[in-house]
Amino acid sequence: MEMREFLKHKIFSIVSDVAEFENVDAYVIGGYVRDIFLNRPSKDIDIVVLGSGVDFARKVARRLRTTKVSYFKNFGTAQLKYHEWDVEFVGARKESYRLDSRKPIVENGTLEDDQNRRDFTINALALSLNKRNFGELIDPFDGVNDLKRGIIRTPLDPLTTFSDDPLRMLRAVRFATQLNFDIEPKTLDAIRQMNGRIKIVSAERITDELNKMMTSLRPSMGWFLLDETGLLEYILPEFVALKGVESRNGISHKDNFLHTLEVLDNLSAKSDNLWLRWAALLHDIAKPKTKRFIQGQGWTFHGHEFVGAKMIPSIFRKLKLPLNDKMKYVQKMVQLHLRPIVLSQDEVTDSAVRRLLFDAGDDIDDLMMLCEADITSKNDATVKRHLANFRIVRKKLKEIEEKDAIRNFQPPVSGELIMDTFGIKPCKEVGVIKTRIKDAILDGEIHNNFVEAYNLMLKVGREIGLTPIKIDQRYVVPENK
Ligand code: CTP
Repeated sequence: MEMREFLKHKIFSIVSDVAEFENVDAYVIGGYVRDIFLNRPSKDIDIVVLGSGVDFARKVARRLRTTKVSYFKNFGTAQLKYHEWDVEFVGARKESYRLDSRKPIVENGTLEDDQNRRDFTINALALSLNKRNFGELIDPFDGVNDLKRGIIRTPLDPLTTFSDDPLRMLRAVRFATQLNFDIEPKTLDAIRQMNGRIKIVSAERITDELNKMMTSLRPSMGWFLLDETGLLEYILPEFVALKGVESRNGISHKDNFLHTLEVLDNLSAKSDNLWLRWAALLHDIAKPKTKRFIQGQGWTFHGHEFVGAKMIPSIFRKLKLPLNDKMKYVQKMVQLHLRPIVLSQDEVTDSAVRRLLFDAGDDIDDLMMLCEADITSKNDATVKRHLANFRIVRKKLKEIEEKDAIRNFQPPVSGELIMDTFGIKPCKEVGVIKTRIKDAILDGEIHNNFVEAYNLMLKVGREIGLTPIKIDQRYVVPENK
Protein backbone atom coordinates (compact mmCIF):
# COMPACT_ATOMS: atom_id res chain seq x y z
CA MET A 1 0.00 0.00 0.00
CA GLU A 2 1.32 3.46 -0.88
CA MET A 3 1.27 5.36 2.40
CA ARG A 4 1.95 8.82 0.94
CA GLU A 5 -1.63 8.76 -0.31
CA PHE A 6 -2.81 9.07 3.29
CA LEU A 7 -0.38 11.83 4.20
CA LYS A 8 -1.47 14.41 1.65
CA HIS A 9 -3.03 16.86 4.06
CA LYS A 10 -1.23 20.13 4.67
CA ILE A 11 -0.73 19.18 8.33
CA PHE A 12 1.62 16.35 7.38
CA SER A 13 3.73 18.45 5.01
CA ILE A 14 4.08 21.17 7.62
CA VAL A 15 5.10 18.65 10.28
CA SER A 16 7.60 17.31 7.79
CA ASP A 17 9.01 20.80 7.13
CA VAL A 18 9.33 21.54 10.84
CA ALA A 19 11.05 18.17 11.41
CA GLU A 20 13.57 19.01 8.69
CA PHE A 21 14.11 22.59 9.82
CA GLU A 22 14.49 21.71 13.49
CA ASN A 23 16.36 18.52 12.81
CA VAL A 24 13.94 16.52 14.98
CA ASP A 25 12.43 13.25 13.73
CA ALA A 26 8.64 13.01 13.63
CA TYR A 27 6.25 10.13 12.98
CA VAL A 28 2.49 9.54 12.80
CA ILE A 29 1.74 6.68 15.14
CA GLY A 30 -1.07 4.60 16.62
CA GLY A 31 -4.77 4.76 15.75
CA TYR A 32 -4.42 6.93 12.63
CA VAL A 33 -2.05 4.46 10.97
CA ARG A 34 -4.06 1.44 12.09
CA ASP A 35 -7.24 2.97 10.68
CA ILE A 36 -5.66 3.46 7.25
CA PHE A 37 -5.27 -0.31 7.03
CA LEU A 38 -8.78 -0.86 8.34
CA ASN A 39 -10.09 1.43 5.66
CA ARG A 40 -11.73 3.83 8.08
CA PRO A 41 -9.67 7.01 7.82
CA SER A 42 -9.84 9.14 10.96
CA LYS A 43 -9.19 12.80 11.78
CA ASP A 44 -7.32 12.07 15.01
CA ILE A 45 -3.59 12.19 14.46
CA ASP A 46 -0.95 11.27 17.02
CA ILE A 47 2.51 12.60 16.21
CA VAL A 48 5.51 11.37 18.12
CA VAL A 49 8.70 13.41 17.93
CA LEU A 50 12.20 12.58 19.11
CA GLY A 51 12.39 15.69 21.25
CA SER A 52 9.96 18.01 22.96
CA GLY A 53 6.33 17.55 21.85
CA VAL A 54 5.42 20.93 23.27
CA ASP A 55 8.12 22.89 21.42
CA PHE A 56 7.41 21.05 18.20
CA ALA A 57 3.66 21.75 18.43
CA ARG A 58 4.36 25.44 18.95
CA LYS A 59 6.30 25.59 15.69
CA VAL A 60 3.67 23.67 13.74
CA ALA A 61 0.92 25.91 15.12
CA ARG A 62 2.82 29.00 14.00
CA ARG A 63 3.15 27.69 10.45
CA LEU A 64 -0.49 26.64 10.33
CA ARG A 65 -1.42 30.08 11.69
CA THR A 66 -3.63 28.59 14.32
CA THR A 67 -3.92 29.48 17.98
CA LYS A 68 -6.05 26.53 18.88
CA VAL A 69 -3.33 24.68 20.79
CA SER A 70 -3.35 23.44 24.36
CA TYR A 71 -0.08 22.66 26.06
CA PHE A 72 0.20 20.13 28.86
CA LYS A 73 3.71 20.81 30.07
CA ASN A 74 3.52 18.30 32.93
CA PHE A 75 2.83 15.50 30.49
CA GLY A 76 5.03 16.88 27.72
CA THR A 77 2.15 16.83 25.25
CA ALA A 78 0.27 19.36 23.17
CA GLN A 79 -3.02 19.20 21.35
CA LEU A 80 -3.74 21.20 18.25
CA LYS A 81 -7.10 21.63 16.50
CA TYR A 82 -7.13 22.47 12.82
CA HIS A 83 -10.51 22.47 11.11
CA GLU A 84 -11.90 19.03 11.82
CA TRP A 85 -8.48 17.59 12.59
CA ASP A 86 -7.29 16.86 16.07
CA VAL A 87 -3.52 16.52 16.33
CA GLU A 88 -1.64 15.44 19.41
CA PHE A 89 2.12 15.87 19.79
CA VAL A 90 4.17 13.90 22.23
CA GLY A 91 7.87 13.34 22.75
CA ALA A 92 8.98 9.72 22.31
CA ARG A 93 9.03 8.07 25.71
CA LYS A 94 10.57 5.25 27.54
CA GLU A 95 8.12 4.80 30.31
CA SER A 96 7.70 2.79 33.40
CA TYR A 97 4.71 2.92 35.67
CA ARG A 98 4.47 2.71 39.41
CA LEU A 99 2.50 -0.29 40.55
CA ASP A 100 -0.20 1.59 42.41
CA SER A 101 -1.13 4.24 39.88
CA ARG A 102 -1.12 5.21 36.26
CA LYS A 103 1.12 8.24 36.61
CA PRO A 104 4.14 7.38 34.50
CA ILE A 105 7.74 8.18 35.24
CA VAL A 106 8.75 9.58 31.90
CA GLU A 107 12.13 9.44 30.25
CA ASN A 108 12.99 10.52 26.74
CA GLY A 109 13.35 7.63 24.35
CA THR A 110 13.78 6.49 20.78
CA LEU A 111 10.98 5.63 18.36
CA GLU A 112 11.57 1.99 19.19
CA ASP A 113 11.16 2.67 22.92
CA ASP A 114 7.94 4.47 22.17
CA GLN A 115 6.58 1.64 20.05
CA ASN A 116 7.54 -0.88 22.72
CA ARG A 117 5.44 0.88 25.30
CA ARG A 118 2.24 0.90 23.26
CA ASP A 119 -0.71 -1.38 23.96
CA PHE A 120 -1.05 -3.60 20.90
CA THR A 121 0.95 -4.46 17.80
CA ILE A 122 -1.81 -3.00 15.63
CA ASN A 123 -1.54 0.29 17.57
CA ALA A 124 2.23 0.50 17.39
CA LEU A 125 2.51 1.17 13.64
CA ALA A 126 4.34 4.35 12.67
CA LEU A 127 4.74 6.28 9.42
CA SER A 128 7.78 8.47 8.94
CA LEU A 129 7.21 12.16 8.24
CA ASN A 130 10.91 12.84 7.74
CA LYS A 131 12.07 13.98 4.31
CA ARG A 132 14.59 11.15 3.95
CA ASN A 133 11.94 8.40 4.11
CA PHE A 134 8.56 10.19 4.09
CA GLY A 135 5.68 7.67 4.21
CA GLU A 136 7.79 4.69 5.24
CA LEU A 137 6.03 2.23 7.49
CA ILE A 138 7.84 1.21 10.66
CA ASP A 139 6.25 -1.95 11.95
CA PRO A 140 8.63 -3.77 14.29
CA PHE A 141 6.03 -6.21 15.70
CA ASP A 142 4.36 -7.33 12.49
CA GLY A 143 1.24 -5.35 13.35
CA VAL A 144 0.07 -5.18 9.73
CA ASN A 145 0.02 -8.94 9.63
CA ASP A 146 -2.00 -9.00 12.85
CA LEU A 147 -4.45 -6.60 11.25
CA LYS A 148 -4.79 -8.95 8.31
CA ARG A 149 -5.22 -12.02 10.47
CA GLY A 150 -7.47 -10.24 12.96
CA ILE A 151 -5.31 -10.62 16.05
CA ILE A 152 -4.99 -8.52 19.20
CA ARG A 153 -1.53 -9.01 20.68
CA THR A 154 0.79 -6.93 22.86
CA PRO A 155 4.22 -5.82 21.53
CA LEU A 156 6.07 -6.89 24.69
CA ASP A 157 5.30 -9.71 27.10
CA PRO A 158 1.61 -9.08 27.88
CA LEU A 159 2.30 -9.13 31.63
CA THR A 160 4.58 -6.13 31.16
CA THR A 161 2.26 -4.26 28.80
CA PHE A 162 -0.72 -4.77 31.12
CA SER A 163 1.26 -3.85 34.25
CA ASP A 164 2.12 -0.56 32.56
CA ASP A 165 -1.58 0.22 32.25
CA PRO A 166 -4.18 -2.35 33.36
CA LEU A 167 -6.90 -0.55 31.36
CA ARG A 168 -5.29 -2.19 28.34
CA MET A 169 -6.85 -5.51 29.39
CA LEU A 170 -10.21 -3.94 28.80
CA ARG A 171 -8.99 -2.23 25.63
CA ALA A 172 -8.04 -5.67 24.29
CA VAL A 173 -11.62 -6.81 24.81
CA ARG A 174 -12.99 -3.60 23.31
CA PHE A 175 -10.83 -3.76 20.17
CA ALA A 176 -11.62 -7.47 19.72
CA THR A 177 -15.33 -6.64 19.88
CA GLN A 178 -15.19 -3.55 17.66
CA LEU A 179 -13.03 -5.18 15.00
CA ASN A 180 -14.28 -8.74 15.43
CA PHE A 181 -10.69 -9.86 16.12
CA ASP A 182 -9.34 -12.67 18.31
CA ILE A 183 -7.20 -12.00 21.34
CA GLU A 184 -4.01 -14.03 20.99
CA PRO A 185 -3.96 -16.90 23.56
CA LYS A 186 -0.93 -15.65 25.49
CA THR A 187 -2.41 -12.18 25.73
CA LEU A 188 -5.76 -13.64 26.82
CA ASP A 189 -4.03 -15.76 29.47
CA ALA A 190 -2.25 -12.70 30.82
CA ILE A 191 -5.59 -10.93 31.23
CA ARG A 192 -6.89 -13.92 33.20
CA GLN A 193 -3.83 -13.82 35.41
CA MET A 194 -3.94 -10.10 36.03
CA ASN A 195 -7.66 -9.31 35.98
CA GLY A 196 -7.61 -8.03 39.58
CA ARG A 197 -5.36 -5.15 38.55
CA ILE A 198 -8.34 -3.52 36.83
CA LYS A 199 -9.25 -2.32 40.33
CA ILE A 200 -6.73 0.53 40.12
CA VAL A 201 -8.33 1.92 36.95
CA SER A 202 -10.85 4.75 37.28
CA ALA A 203 -14.51 4.04 36.56
CA GLU A 204 -14.58 6.76 33.89
CA ARG A 205 -11.88 5.11 31.81
CA ILE A 206 -13.52 1.70 32.20
CA THR A 207 -16.89 3.03 31.17
CA ASP A 208 -15.44 4.77 28.11
CA GLU A 209 -14.30 1.38 26.90
CA LEU A 210 -17.60 -0.30 27.81
CA ASN A 211 -19.51 2.30 25.81
CA LYS A 212 -17.28 1.75 22.80
CA MET A 213 -17.88 -1.97 23.17
CA MET A 214 -21.61 -1.40 23.48
CA THR A 215 -21.77 0.56 20.22
CA SER A 216 -20.16 -2.30 18.28
CA LEU A 217 -22.03 -4.43 15.80
CA ARG A 218 -22.31 -7.40 18.16
CA PRO A 219 -21.72 -6.17 21.73
CA SER A 220 -22.32 -9.62 23.26
CA MET A 221 -18.84 -10.62 22.12
CA GLY A 222 -17.30 -8.11 24.54
CA TRP A 223 -19.39 -9.24 27.49
CA PHE A 224 -18.51 -12.87 26.83
CA LEU A 225 -14.83 -11.96 26.73
CA LEU A 226 -15.11 -9.94 29.94
CA ASP A 227 -16.66 -12.98 31.57
CA GLU A 228 -14.14 -15.41 30.15
CA THR A 229 -11.21 -13.31 31.38
CA GLY A 230 -12.68 -12.75 34.84
CA LEU A 231 -12.80 -8.97 34.36
CA LEU A 232 -16.59 -8.95 34.58
CA GLU A 233 -16.54 -9.92 38.25
CA TYR A 234 -14.77 -6.63 39.00
CA ILE A 235 -16.71 -4.46 36.58
CA LEU A 236 -20.31 -5.61 36.90
CA PRO A 237 -20.76 -8.46 39.40
CA GLU A 238 -24.55 -8.04 39.24
CA PHE A 239 -24.38 -9.29 35.68
CA VAL A 240 -22.25 -12.33 36.57
CA ALA A 241 -25.02 -13.33 38.98
CA LEU A 242 -27.31 -13.98 35.99
CA LYS A 243 -25.18 -16.93 34.94
CA GLY A 244 -26.28 -20.50 35.26
CA VAL A 245 -29.31 -22.73 35.31
CA GLU A 246 -30.98 -24.24 38.34
CA SER A 247 -33.28 -27.25 38.28
CA ARG A 248 -35.81 -28.48 40.75
CA ASN A 249 -38.21 -31.39 40.30
CA GLY A 250 -36.93 -31.66 36.76
CA ILE A 251 -37.90 -28.05 35.99
CA SER A 252 -35.16 -25.62 35.03
CA HIS A 253 -35.14 -21.96 34.12
CA LYS A 254 -33.19 -20.46 31.26
CA ASP A 255 -29.68 -19.12 31.67
CA ASN A 256 -30.40 -15.42 32.04
CA PHE A 257 -26.85 -14.39 31.19
CA LEU A 258 -27.08 -16.06 27.78
CA HIS A 259 -30.63 -14.86 27.30
CA THR A 260 -29.66 -11.25 28.09
CA LEU A 261 -26.78 -11.28 25.63
CA GLU A 262 -29.07 -12.65 22.95
CA VAL A 263 -31.52 -9.83 23.66
CA LEU A 264 -28.68 -7.30 23.50
CA ASP A 265 -27.59 -8.54 20.07
CA ASN A 266 -31.18 -8.73 18.77
CA LEU A 267 -31.73 -5.16 19.85
CA SER A 268 -28.37 -3.97 18.53
CA ALA A 269 -29.27 -5.31 15.10
CA LYS A 270 -32.24 -2.92 15.13
CA SER A 271 -31.01 0.12 17.03
CA ASP A 272 -27.83 2.15 17.55
CA ASN A 273 -29.24 3.85 20.63
CA LEU A 274 -26.55 3.32 23.29
CA TRP A 275 -29.01 3.77 26.16
CA LEU A 276 -31.50 1.33 24.75
CA ARG A 277 -28.61 -1.13 24.49
CA TRP A 278 -27.79 -0.56 28.16
CA ALA A 279 -31.47 -1.14 28.95
CA ALA A 280 -31.29 -4.44 27.06
CA LEU A 281 -28.23 -5.43 29.06
CA LEU A 282 -29.87 -4.57 32.36
CA HIS A 283 -33.50 -5.50 31.71
CA ASP A 284 -33.36 -8.75 33.72
CA ILE A 285 -30.68 -7.66 36.19
CA ALA A 286 -32.92 -8.37 39.20
CA LYS A 287 -33.77 -11.93 38.21
CA PRO A 288 -31.28 -13.49 40.65
CA LYS A 289 -32.69 -11.38 43.48
CA THR A 290 -36.31 -12.24 42.78
CA LYS A 291 -35.97 -15.89 41.82
CA ARG A 292 -38.34 -18.30 43.61
CA PHE A 293 -39.44 -21.85 43.00
CA ILE A 294 -43.17 -22.19 43.57
CA GLN A 295 -44.84 -25.59 43.59
CA GLY A 296 -47.21 -25.85 40.69
CA GLN A 297 -45.82 -22.75 38.99
CA GLY A 298 -42.13 -23.54 38.60
CA TRP A 299 -39.52 -20.78 38.56
CA THR A 300 -40.78 -17.24 38.98
CA PHE A 301 -39.11 -13.84 39.00
CA HIS A 302 -42.01 -11.78 40.30
CA GLY A 303 -41.37 -8.06 40.38
CA HIS A 304 -37.94 -8.30 38.76
CA GLU A 305 -38.82 -5.33 36.56
CA PHE A 306 -39.44 -3.08 39.58
CA VAL A 307 -36.50 -4.35 41.62
CA GLY A 308 -34.36 -4.04 38.48
CA ALA A 309 -35.39 -0.42 37.89
CA LYS A 310 -34.42 0.31 41.51
CA MET A 311 -30.97 -1.21 40.98
CA ILE A 312 -30.16 1.06 38.03
CA PRO A 313 -29.05 4.19 39.95
CA SER A 314 -26.47 2.32 42.02
CA ILE A 315 -25.12 0.53 38.94
CA PHE A 316 -24.95 3.82 37.03
CA ARG A 317 -23.26 5.51 39.98
CA LYS A 318 -20.65 2.79 40.29
CA LEU A 319 -19.90 2.80 36.56
CA LYS A 320 -19.94 6.62 36.48
CA LEU A 321 -22.59 6.53 33.81
CA PRO A 322 -24.64 9.74 33.72
CA LEU A 323 -27.18 10.14 36.52
CA ASN A 324 -29.51 12.22 34.38
CA ASP A 325 -32.39 11.69 31.96
CA LYS A 326 -30.41 8.88 30.27
CA MET A 327 -30.49 6.94 33.51
CA LYS A 328 -34.20 7.67 33.96
CA TYR A 329 -34.80 6.40 30.46
CA VAL A 330 -32.98 3.13 31.18
CA GLN A 331 -34.94 2.78 34.43
CA LYS A 332 -38.18 3.31 32.61
CA MET A 333 -37.32 0.73 29.96
CA VAL A 334 -36.36 -1.82 32.61
CA GLN A 335 -39.51 -1.16 34.62
CA LEU A 336 -41.86 -1.36 31.63
CA HIS A 337 -40.20 -4.17 29.71
CA LEU A 338 -42.88 -6.75 30.53
CA ARG A 339 -45.89 -4.56 29.87
CA PRO A 340 -46.31 -5.05 26.11
CA ILE A 341 -45.93 -8.81 26.43
CA VAL A 342 -48.41 -9.07 29.30
CA LEU A 343 -50.77 -6.89 27.37
CA SER A 344 -50.48 -9.02 24.25
CA GLN A 345 -51.16 -12.21 26.18
CA ASP A 346 -54.60 -11.02 27.28
CA GLU A 347 -57.20 -9.47 25.12
CA VAL A 348 -55.73 -6.15 24.03
CA THR A 349 -58.13 -3.67 25.64
CA ASP A 350 -58.13 0.00 24.75
CA SER A 351 -57.63 1.09 28.32
CA ALA A 352 -54.57 -1.13 28.81
CA VAL A 353 -53.12 0.33 25.63
CA ARG A 354 -53.84 3.88 26.83
CA ARG A 355 -52.13 3.16 30.18
CA LEU A 356 -49.08 1.81 28.39
CA LEU A 357 -48.95 4.88 26.14
CA PHE A 358 -49.27 7.13 29.17
CA ASP A 359 -46.47 5.38 31.07
CA ALA A 360 -44.08 5.05 28.15
CA GLY A 361 -44.79 8.41 26.53
CA ASP A 362 -42.49 9.20 23.63
CA ASP A 363 -40.34 6.18 24.41
CA ILE A 364 -43.07 3.74 23.40
CA ASP A 365 -41.38 2.79 20.10
CA ASP A 366 -38.11 2.05 21.89
CA LEU A 367 -39.97 -0.04 24.44
CA MET A 368 -41.66 -2.07 21.73
CA MET A 369 -38.28 -2.65 20.09
CA LEU A 370 -36.80 -3.87 23.36
CA CYS A 371 -39.75 -6.21 23.94
CA GLU A 372 -39.48 -7.72 20.50
CA ALA A 373 -35.77 -8.27 21.06
CA ASP A 374 -36.67 -9.99 24.35
CA ILE A 375 -38.40 -12.86 22.57
CA THR A 376 -35.65 -15.46 22.43
CA SER A 377 -37.56 -18.72 22.66
CA LYS A 378 -36.05 -21.63 20.75
CA ASN A 379 -39.57 -22.66 19.79
CA ASP A 380 -40.45 -21.12 16.44
CA ALA A 381 -44.19 -21.33 17.02
CA THR A 382 -43.89 -19.41 20.30
CA VAL A 383 -41.79 -16.71 18.65
CA LYS A 384 -44.28 -16.40 15.80
CA ARG A 385 -47.21 -16.16 18.19
CA HIS A 386 -45.56 -13.42 20.24
CA LEU A 387 -44.55 -11.43 17.19
CA ALA A 388 -48.08 -11.69 15.78
CA ASN A 389 -49.47 -10.43 19.10
CA PHE A 390 -47.02 -7.57 19.05
CA ARG A 391 -48.25 -6.57 15.62
CA ILE A 392 -51.75 -6.31 17.11
CA VAL A 393 -50.41 -4.24 20.00
CA ARG A 394 -48.55 -1.92 17.62
CA LYS A 395 -51.67 -1.46 15.50
CA LYS A 396 -53.76 -0.68 18.56
CA LEU A 397 -51.13 1.72 19.86
CA LYS A 398 -51.29 3.62 16.59
CA GLU A 399 -55.09 3.73 16.45
CA ILE A 400 -55.47 4.89 20.02
CA GLU A 401 -52.72 7.43 19.82
CA GLU A 402 -54.35 8.94 16.73
CA LYS A 403 -57.68 9.12 18.53
CA ASP A 404 -56.71 10.09 22.07
CA ALA A 405 -53.18 11.60 21.88
CA ILE A 406 -51.96 10.04 25.12
CA ARG A 407 -48.23 9.93 24.34
CA ASN A 408 -47.61 13.48 25.48
CA PHE A 409 -50.45 13.63 27.92
CA GLN A 410 -51.15 17.10 29.31
CA PRO A 411 -54.00 17.36 31.81
CA PRO A 412 -56.87 19.00 29.87
CA VAL A 413 -57.97 20.83 33.04
CA SER A 414 -55.27 22.64 35.00
CA GLY A 415 -54.89 22.79 38.76
CA GLU A 416 -55.38 26.57 38.50
CA LEU A 417 -58.78 26.17 36.91
CA ILE A 418 -59.83 23.66 39.56
CA MET A 419 -58.81 26.09 42.34
CA ASP A 420 -60.57 29.05 40.67
CA THR A 421 -63.74 27.06 40.07
CA PHE A 422 -64.11 25.87 43.66
CA GLY A 423 -62.43 28.82 45.34
CA ILE A 424 -59.80 26.67 47.03
CA LYS A 425 -56.07 26.95 47.69
CA PRO A 426 -53.59 24.21 46.68
CA CYS A 427 -54.73 21.14 48.61
CA LYS A 428 -55.28 17.40 48.40
CA GLU A 429 -58.63 17.81 46.62
CA VAL A 430 -56.99 19.40 43.58
CA GLY A 431 -54.88 16.28 43.15
CA VAL A 432 -57.87 14.00 43.65
CA ILE A 433 -59.79 15.73 40.87
CA LYS A 434 -56.82 15.73 38.50
CA THR A 435 -56.18 12.03 39.05
CA ARG A 436 -59.84 11.16 38.52
CA ILE A 437 -59.85 13.05 35.22
CA LYS A 438 -56.62 11.35 34.09
CA ASP A 439 -57.94 7.89 35.03
CA ALA A 440 -61.26 8.54 33.30
CA ILE A 441 -59.41 9.41 30.10
CA LEU A 442 -57.10 6.41 30.31
CA ASP A 443 -60.01 4.10 31.07
CA GLY A 444 -61.99 5.51 28.17
CA GLU A 445 -64.86 6.90 30.29
CA ILE A 446 -64.33 10.31 28.71
CA HIS A 447 -62.33 11.54 25.74
CA ASN A 448 -59.18 13.54 26.07
CA ASN A 449 -60.73 16.97 25.53
CA PHE A 450 -61.45 20.06 27.58
CA VAL A 451 -65.24 20.01 27.60
CA GLU A 452 -65.58 16.46 28.87
CA ALA A 453 -62.83 17.00 31.41
CA TYR A 454 -64.46 20.26 32.61
CA ASN A 455 -67.76 18.56 33.26
CA LEU A 456 -66.12 15.67 35.07
CA MET A 457 -64.27 18.20 37.22
CA LEU A 458 -67.60 19.75 38.30
CA LYS A 459 -69.07 16.32 39.02
CA VAL A 460 -66.12 14.99 41.02
CA GLY A 461 -65.83 18.28 42.93
CA ARG A 462 -69.44 18.04 44.06
CA GLU A 463 -68.98 14.37 44.99
CA ILE A 464 -66.17 15.22 47.38
CA GLY A 465 -68.13 18.05 48.96
CA LEU A 466 -66.87 21.11 47.10
CA THR A 467 -69.17 23.86 45.81
CA PRO A 468 -68.30 25.68 42.62
CA ILE A 469 -68.10 29.46 42.92
CA LYS A 470 -67.37 30.16 39.27
CA ILE A 471 -68.75 28.14 36.38
CA ASP A 472 -68.20 28.84 32.71
CA GLN A 473 -71.62 28.00 31.29
CA ARG A 474 -70.30 27.78 27.72
CA TYR A 475 -68.74 24.43 28.56
CA VAL A 476 -71.42 22.92 30.76
CA VAL A 477 -73.14 19.88 29.32
CA PRO A 478 -76.16 18.60 31.28
CA GLU A 479 -75.45 15.18 32.82
CA ASN A 480 -78.17 13.20 31.09
CA LYS A 481 -77.10 14.33 27.64
N1 CTP B 1 -2.39 3.73 23.85
C1 CTP B 1 -1.74 2.80 24.65
N2 CTP B 1 -2.29 2.42 25.84
C2 CTP B 1 -3.46 2.95 26.25
C3 CTP B 1 -4.12 3.90 25.45
C4 CTP B 1 -3.55 4.26 24.25
O1 CTP B 1 -0.68 2.32 24.28
N3 CTP B 1 -3.99 2.59 27.42
C5 CTP B 1 -1.73 4.16 22.57
C6 CTP B 1 -2.05 3.28 21.39
O2 CTP B 1 -0.90 3.28 20.57
C7 CTP B 1 -3.18 4.00 20.69
C8 CTP B 1 -2.84 5.46 20.95
O3 CTP B 1 -2.20 5.46 22.22
O4 CTP B 1 -3.28 3.71 19.34
C9 CTP B 1 -4.04 6.39 20.94
O5 CTP B 1 -4.97 5.98 21.88
P1 CTP B 1 -6.50 6.35 21.84
O6 CTP B 1 -6.66 7.67 21.21
O7 CTP B 1 -7.05 6.10 23.20
O8 CTP B 1 -7.14 5.21 20.98
P2 CTP B 1 -7.05 4.81 19.49
O9 CTP B 1 -6.08 3.68 19.36
O10 CTP B 1 -6.83 5.97 18.60
O11 CTP B 1 -8.46 4.13 19.23
P3 CTP B 1 -9.92 4.76 19.37
O12 CTP B 1 -9.92 6.02 18.58
O13 CTP B 1 -10.78 3.67 18.81
O14 CTP B 1 -10.14 4.94 20.83
